[in-house]
Amino acid sequence: MTLKRRQSLFVLGSTAFVASLPLTARGQSFAFPNKIKIGTKAQINRFGLISFSYPGPTHPAQAIKLRDGRIVAYSLLCTHMGCPVSYDADSERYLCPCHQSAYAAWNHAAVVQGPAPRPLPEILLDEDLDGNIFAVGLSAPVFGSSATIRQIEEIYAGESKL
Ligand code: FES
Repeated sequence: MTLKRRQSLFVLGSTAFVASLPLTARGQSFAFPNKIKIGTKAQINRFGLISFSYPGPTHPAQAIKLRDGRIVAYSLLCTHMGCPVSYDADSERYLCPCHQSAYAAWNHAAVVQGPAPRPLPEILLDEDLDGNIFAVGLSAPVFGSSATIRQIEEIYAGESKL
């Protein structure tokens, strides 16, 4: 298993397929050995989003369906000081109420308005043949999670011995 290229879920019209592509154009992505079911494709088609926790139970996250049909998922902890961001479907942006940072949901949660220093961590998704959607990794550690960073380092140490 490589940590640099993972499967990412894309939806085009009504046809879903899983493509082996890097999650982000930003480069390296982090993976976890566990995969967590976050919901189903039917749910996200019906409600437009699925809220869940990842990588741990105290890390809020969300998967959304963009207007162009893609399904993407992000950590909801602002990269500035960790306030929870909320999704504005009209502008397809995540907005932080604390200091007004904004992130482009359609573009890997790139910062479109500061003071956030980095994009929201993107969550890698996978789908099985029954339409279940899973979180399987992150593009970066979530805000303030030193435990997560340690976990990632341990995973990398383990991978290098394989
Ligand atoms: S915590 Fe989000 S902009 Fe400051």
